[in-house]
Amino acid sequence: MYLADETRYDGMQYQRCGESGVMLPFLSLGLWHNFGEDSSYTNAREMVLGAFDKGVTYFDLANNYGPPPGSAEECFGRILKADLAPYRDELFIATKAGYRHWPGPYGEWGSKKNLVASCDNSLKRLGLDYVDLFYHHRPDPNTPLEETIEALEAIVRAGKALYVGISNYGPEQTEAVLTAMEAKGIHCLVHQVRYSMFERGPEAGLFSVLERHGVGAAAYMCLAQGLLTDRYFDGVKEGSRAAGKSAFLNRDQVTAEKVATAKRLNAVAAERGQSLAQMALAWCFRVRPVSTLIMGASRLSQITDNLKAMENTAFCEEELERIEEILR
Ligand SMILES: NC(=O)c1ccc[n+]([C@@H]2O[C@H](COP(=O)([O-])OP(=O)(O)OC[C@H]3O[C@@H](n4cnc5c(N)ncnc54)[C@H](OP(=O)(O)O)[C@@H]3O)[C@@H](O)[C@H]2O)c1
Repeated sequence: MYLADETRYDGMQYQRCGESGVMLPFLSLGLWHNFGEDSSYTNAREMVLGAFDKGVTYFDLANNYGPPPGSAEECFGRILKADLAPYRDELFIATKAGYRHWPGPYGEWGSKKNLVASCDNSLKRLGLDYVDLFYHHRPDPNTPLEETIEALEAIVRAGKALYVGISNYGPEQTEAVLTAMEAKGIHCLVHQVRYSMFERGPEAGLFSVLERHGVGAAAYMCLAQGLLTDRYFDGVKEGSRAAGKSAFLNRDQVTAEKVATAKRLNAVAAERGQSLAQMALAWCFRVRPVSTLIMGASRLSQITDNLKAMENTAFCEEELERIEEILR
């Protein structure tokens, strides 16, 4: 029987998510890759429980995570039932809907029909009465914002989610949705944004919109799927994401230029006494309103290594300038 490590809260930093009551851990665990039907349950369980033993309380899911879609939620539901049920109130469990999950006109985007059904299906797979956070996964250009907001509100009012969030909305769309939600008295807890040394889009306006509205940011892909680690320093090896079946990172995307940049960044990290992965995470954390970094992992050792990023999150001006110079 699993018993959580009694020291699990000793080493983790928690910060407030925007202007809310919710504290989120420095690192959260995302279950996008390596938790589907084709992944080892033993390894998935080891990562989830090992992360929780280190104070990772936020687990990030979506209806489409797998493959096949839904299987990451099933996997997490199995771990919850077998091991984490006594710790439910210590966990912050999020899921999302918006990408295609089932065939036909109601299986994706932002209609009330899609979001309410998807949330119900997620709860069944997870074996939960409610999730802590339910996200609209991507903006829908064809559904009125009001309908999407009404769906999120209905989900909260029905007790199926405690908080709501959005993901992948641009700055103008975010301004519009947050303003409309505020007018209805609904608080958006968090915006889940792609952000890393290689993907700096949110700096151009989105972060300031979130700050103005008191909404936190959960940054994802802070390691650029492994490109901001030493994973590809000696080529694309078997077992890595780029060598596998992921539709989102393939061998061609591991370019000589990206690897050369990563190696130069690695030299700065070494002087800071960190691995490149640790520095890449710490660097994302320097920006307000980032409240948590959602990392992916294929094994527990990556999670425990990455958590050591917390040991040095401060950057001096000279380090920041050198990093800028390398990224230019
Ligand atoms: N809202 C959205 O639209 C959206 C989209 C994408 C992701 N997300 C969320 O963000 C989470 C993270 O995404 P991600 O997995 O693509 O991001 P990531 O954290 O940038 O990349 C994770 C990958 O990097 C490698 N890695 C991690 N730590 C390492 C280390 N210490 N040394 C060497 N390699 C290391 C592993 O690859 P290997 O497999 O090669 O070991 C791991 O699978 C997802 O699980 C999901 O929850 C959200």
